[in-house]
Amino acid sequence: MSPAADPATVLSAAPERSAAAERAETLFTESFGYAPDGVWSAPGRVNIIGEHVDYQDGLCLPMAISHRCFAAAARTPTDRLRVRSAQSEVVLDIDARELAPGAVDGWPSYVAGVLWALRSYISGASTLGMDIMIDGQVPLGAGLSSSAALECATAEAIEALLSLGTGPLDRVRAAITAETEFAGASTGGLDQSASVLSREGHALFLDCRDLSTRPVPWDLAAQGLALLITDTRAEHSHVDGEYTARRADSERAAELLGVPTLRDAGGEDLEAQLARIDDEVVRRRTRHVLTEIRRVEEFDALLGAGTVREHVAGLGALLDASHDSLRDDYEVTVPALDAAVDAARAAGAHGARMTGGGFGGSTIALVEADQAQSVAGAIAQEFSARGFGAPEFFLALPSEGAGQDR
Ligand code: GLA
Repeated sequence: MSPAADPATVLSAAPERSAAAERAETLFTESFGYAPDGVWSAPGRVNIIGEHVDYQDGLCLPMAISHRCFAAAARTPTDRLRVRSAQSEVVLDIDARELAPGAVDGWPSYVAGVLWALRSYISGASTLGMDIMIDGQVPLGAGLSSSAALECATAEAIEALLSLGTGPLDRVRAAITAETEFAGASTGGLDQSASVLSREGHALFLDCRDLSTRPVPWDLAAQGLALLITDTRAEHSHVDGEYTARRADSERAAELLGVPTLRDAGGEDLEAQLARIDDEVVRRRTRHVLTEIRRVEEFDALLGAGTVREHVAGLGALLDASHDSLRDDYEVTVPALDAAVDAARAAGAHGARMTGGGFGGSTIALVEADQAQSVAGAIAQEFSARGFGAPEFFLALPSEGAGQDR
């Protein structure tokens, strides 16, 4: 069978948003026995460029994808927080006034954690009870930020139900706090910012120093281009430990250079700075972070100077350089990620790189729209030849950040 005809290379589409929101409402009604007050949702993300720099106050350029997590929710006249999901048998039923880190296990901790993280905004509420039905459609384990989508959809729902008066940035921060302090996972803020603050048709220029953002036009379809996502399905092993180790290396680098974060080390000559770091591994980690921040600046400058089409070669080269740096200097790729990137490049992609934390998850490739299918076919064929499991393919369509659906 030719690779293009292989059913595994069919590009999967996200469910249509309004139909998906209606489904979440129905699921709520069936499960809790009454209709919800509303439905809110938040998207997953891909990071176009600016990887493993958010926790060093760096610059990133993510975009929201069309896969979203939906939260149908209602306030109740009690203090019980009841959370259920269409994707899991695990349920939560807890006194919302007794939430504390460690009190909730598993995926519901990302939901309960948001209510806990928003506690400083909750003063006058007579009761805190609510029922929440989650319908998550961001592929799990794909490195597309399904957990950020879950947190951010929850934050929208809680804001609306309790009228807390939070702004989008407060909800980004609450989602980060929920993940790091309540659920006990590591994250640097890229994912939550993208999920809340992205705009349809745009990428999001994100300055992690203060989480300030600027939408950047990224309408590939209108220019005959596409961003192909390959979910390698490669098992994420040791992700948490390796992520923590990379953060520790980058903190050590900042310490050695005498700066609060590596973002502050940007000005000086790169080689001169690197020469001040004796440890060979820390030196390579530093080179990744410093060059990656520069690549984001260059990418943004190219986008500011014209269309993606006009600068497609330069943009593609920056994507390639980003991947090579993550592979060689930061060492967060795995064979399946490298294979997907190499196969995409060989099949004619303008540029390709891993996206997200690495150690499994997804890659992106900037391709001609009419070649998305054949590039996917080439990647699928390479995976099959190397004995990897079948990957899954999506198009990254720049979507709107978190908001109310119904
Ligand atoms: C994960 C983290 C993000 C970011 C990326 C790497 O997705 O959650 O905060 O650090 O890895 O860029």
